[in-house]
Amino acid sequence: MPTNTTGSMIGIVDLGGQYCHLIARRLRDLRIGSEIVSPERPADQFGEFAGIILSGGPSSVYDSRSPSVDPKIMELGAPVLGICYGHQLMAKYLGAEVSPGAREYGLSTLSVTVGDSLFRDTPPVQKVWMSHSDSVESLPDNILRLATTDRCETAAFADFERRLFGVQFHPEVTHSEYGLAILRNFGIEVCGIKPEVGASERLAALEAEIRKKAGNRSVFFLVSGGVDSSVAFALCARALPVDRMLGLYVDTGLMRRGETEELQQNFHRLGLEGQLRVRDESARFLNALEGVVDPEKKRQIIGRLFVEVQAEAMRDYGIEESAWLLGQGTIYPDTIESGGTAGRAAVIKTHHNRCAEIVALLEKGQVIEPLAEFYKDEVREVGREIGLDPALTNRWPFPGPGLAIRVLCNKGMSERRARAVELGPDFADYRAVHLPIRSVGVQGDGRTYREVVAIDGPLDYTRLQKISSDLCNLRTSFNRVMIRIAGGWDLSETKVFRASLSRERIARLREADFIARSMMQDAGMTDSVWQFPVILAPVGQKAGDSVVLRPVNSVDGMTASFSHLPFEILSAMAGKIVNLPGIEGVFLDCTDKPPATIEWE
Ligand code: XMP
Repeated sequence: MPTNTTGSMIGIVDLGGQYCHLIARRLRDLRIGSEIVSPERPADQFGEFAGIILSGGPSSVYDSRSPSVDPKIMELGAPVLGICYGHQLMAKYLGAEVSPGAREYGLSTLSVTVGDSLFRDTPPVQKVWMSHSDSVESLPDNILRLATTDRCETAAFADFERRLFGVQFHPEVTHSEYGLAILRNFGIEVCGIKPEVGASERLAALEAEIRKKAGNRSVFFLVSGGVDSSVAFALCARALPVDRMLGLYVDTGLMRRGETEELQQNFHRLGLEGQLRVRDESARFLNALEGVVDPEKKRQIIGRLFVEVQAEAMRDYGIEESAWLLGQGTIYPDTIESGGTAGRAAVIKTHHNRCAEIVALLEKGQVIEPLAEFYKDEVREVGREIGLDPALTNRWPFPGPGLAIRVLCNKGMSERRARAVELGPDFADYRAVHLPIRSVGVQGDGRTYREVVAIDGPLDYTRLQKISSDLCNLRTSFNRVMIRIAGGWDLSETKVFRASLSRERIARLREADFIARSMMQDAGMTDSVWQFPVILAPVGQKAGDSVVLRPVNSVDGMTASFSHLPFEILSAMAGKIVNLPGIEGVFLDCTDKPPATIEWE
């Protein structure tokens, strides 16, 4: 087979998937270079690549507006691997049928039938992460099926002669057990790329980049006390003279208990307390958010206010705009979940640092984001490399919009009743109701905003996993499932009440969050979960609220599984929280990402 490509890198065609950039990151872990390229690139411009990967995407190959690639890239002689939507697109070009099939979001069990090439050194049965609703069916004769799952007949295929491969699952997400091995097999074995060697000069390169971007300008940072903005600030403070750095912490009234003090202590430890300013803007934020229910609206208001406050603060401090850059601790998932940079990815949620006003500043070149290419685990590594306190680098992520997106609101009728949901004979010891309140999910690379199922029954994680993936995969009305841990009312009597983002409800959530956080800390279990959002939902029997615990395990926040915390700690936590004034019940979210997102909004 002639190969018209020569390079030592992989070209990743961005078809709009949430995980496209994650493919580049995984290849980085394998020391394989890659470049993300547009689907519009003609086949004759792929010559520099030793292999090509087609990413996933939010579209269906049937949709006339869905992105496609120049099919000639499959004739270049370079190996091609299609992932999810990329797999379906390749299959379609190769003459297979793609049809709306069984929906599959989250963990699936893959049975490998042809174990060499892509699946070399991986077991015949392995866990993979799926996120699709279309499936590849009826393959032409020259194409071999390599693996299947219960719900997907062609979970992987190959045309060995032409070195064309497709996988329906996502090898790039850490929840696919052998995903990295599969990408290694593709990059190193199939494409023949030699991994780069030598220690990374990452820090020096990052600092040089900051100096180059800043030129003579100073950097004005919005800091939140979280890992990303702290690491980004500390990096800039290493790269630039400290008197050219200023950090502003905005107290939005949406922060957790003790947050401001913790941030001040951290700046003190870094010797940067002189560079920190604090402004109490809680009235401005809370007034603007009054009566807002829609999560995207909340996010946009918060993003806009941050920019407004920043501009006012700069005026107050006599800072000349042209002499400064706005510094942000943006990391890659913030960009991709906000719709990416090229506009092909779906907007899952607009992160506060990607609101319209910030995008305008970015376009004018007035923003510096030293961590914009990184994922959370890489940011933590950089933080450790520059000597930040592990208590800071290991902190659970806390989103910029703060508690605002963890207090669910409901504008409709004063109360709306739950309806029963059938779970089938295998789950006769569970009861389930469908709640008329919605939360955000990510399914098949697109955003969903769907209702929640609440259940009562034994805390048996294996069965809960099955209930939650069946409910979200088989029904289109739900994307999230939670089980009750405390609160004694008859579940069929559950109601959703009218509720807004009041100071009282924020204070209620702040106390519940503090209990969950301190109990995890006291039990020495902080590091056993990746993040632990605590949510307030206007759900109960009388006119109260319920708290939802959302501990998750993840590596980079792009995919996550709900944590299986021991019953003892959950029930002790729930017992304390349910005694707070205004709280009627406590639930545990038992949904993976996908189908749900980590945060509810
Ligand atoms: P989701 O909820 O999309 O979140 O699964 C993935 C990770 O991103 C965090 N997150 C944010 N972080 N600004 C941030 O700085 C935001 O607007 C924002 N929204 C979500 C979330 O907490 C999780 O760690």
